[in-house]
Amino acid sequence: MMWMQQPPALAIVSFHSGEGKTTLLEGIIRELTGKGYRVCAIKHSAHNEVQDASKDTWKYREAGAAASALLQSSGYLEVCSQGADLHTAINVVSCFNPDIVICEGFKDSGLPKIAIVEPSDLGPGSRLRGVVALVLKGDVAPVGGVDCLPFDPSVVAAFIESRFLESRRRATMIDRYGRRILGIRMSLTQRCNLNCVYCHHEGEGSPSGEMYTDEILRILRVARDLGMRRVKFTGGEPLLRKDLGGIIAYSYALGFEDVGVTTNGQLLRERALELYEAGLRRLNLSVPSVDPNVYRSITGGELRNVVDGLESARRLGIHVKINTVVMRGINDSSIGNIIEFARTRSSQLQLIELEDLHLDKGFFEKYHFDLTQTEETISRASDSVVERGEMNRRRVYLVKGLPIEIVRPVSNPSFCAGCTRIRITSDGKIKPCLMRDDLLFDLLGGIRSGLTDDQLKDLFMSAVSAREPFYR
Ligand code: 5AD
Repeated sequence: MMWMQQPPALAIVSFHSGEGKTTLLEGIIRELTGKGYRVCAIKHSAHNEVQDASKDTWKYREAGAAASALLQSSGYLEVCSQGADLHTAINVVSCFNPDIVICEGFKDSGLPKIAIVEPSDLGPGSRLRGVVALVLKGDVAPVGGVDCLPFDPSVVAAFIESRFLESRRRATMIDRYGRRILGIRMSLTQRCNLNCVYCHHEGEGSPSGEMYTDEILRILRVARDLGMRRVKFTGGEPLLRKDLGGIIAYSYALGFEDVGVTTNGQLLRERALELYEAGLRRLNLSVPSVDPNVYRSITGGELRNVVDGLESARRLGIHVKINTVVMRGINDSSIGNIIEFARTRSSQLQLIELEDLHLDKGFFEKYHFDLTQTEETISRASDSVVERGEMNRRRVYLVKGLPIEIVRPVSNPSFCAGCTRIRITSDGKIKPCLMRDDLLFDLLGGIRSGLTDDQLKDLFMSAVSAREPFYR
């Protein structure tokens, strides 16, 4: 079985410069975005003039790309001083949830004109074994065994669509504000082995018990039928559920392409292999501090366990994104240490602004730390790679090889405008907005009272039509 984590990535290559790859790619991006796909593009440049090549990433965004990145032939991303390979570049642009990533400009000998190459064959010095089509310009004899396409963006885009995207095409639900519902965030339990001072409990007041495994699987199946392809399991602490591996494996079997888990990592060392074998390739790890004493005072737990878990996961090849909620006077002055920690030990860092939800009175006012300044500082220190391709998308800063995201949901209408997921609480209610307790749809109640799949879908659809941005 294939575990799809990344979107498909293609390369458009040619031997010579000046054959019109950029123009072709711009046309393809325009075609595909016109059909509703989210495209991200990477420029792999041999140009020494960064500015010259940056112009192309700008052109991609003008053509409609959700994000674009520049990868230099030396293997460097943008003007980054640390090495970053194509996989990192694909990873970085994947933060923007593309349906497909297209990379321009792998120069390679032995090919007459432009070729489209399979993702698995992308890599420095690849010999283009995975050529799936040649785009021919002028009088070039077709090569046997591969599709040959004319130099026409709409024909090439149609080819890409039928070959790589159509099977992913689905009827996604769209809410009244034009937001596509691409995934669910499902809390599997409100039990936790830590007691973090900042915890918002995923916005759950007093849950009325947990779902059984078969009930979780049924909800996943209904969500899949409604076009959702991403699922993130949260808690409480999801690793407290013995059936987590099975739930992950079932999600992939259903056709979910992006399956993630948010964990505090206390039990990760023991469970990492099992989760990996279930197919998990990506997780978010909550690390509010990298100082063992501060960590203990925030969470009541031991940092050592988290570090051990992190290492086990990384050794297996699981992509780990560190989540750090920043709080005034607690960890705001040690963001630098967290960045260093994340750079050496993880794949990505997410600095999160404290949200005022289920916190003790006065806690928010006392500890809320505005990340505007931090974002400016990081932006200045970064080799800015991935930029907003459209409104409402946050930026990913590449700081010496480490992708950093700043999450600022508080009073932020663009954050809400970019929200593409819907929540399921640990007691099986659809919760269209983290911030609201008054908008809940009792899916589990429906399951237990014998509703059919179609009736459950109706419930999902009512929840989606009741969805509205909290900040606007
Ligand atoms: N504000 C912002 N993020 C929070 N999280 C938990 N509580 C809060 C809060 N009050 C986030 C953390 C954690 C994830 C499960 O939820 O990022 O990693």
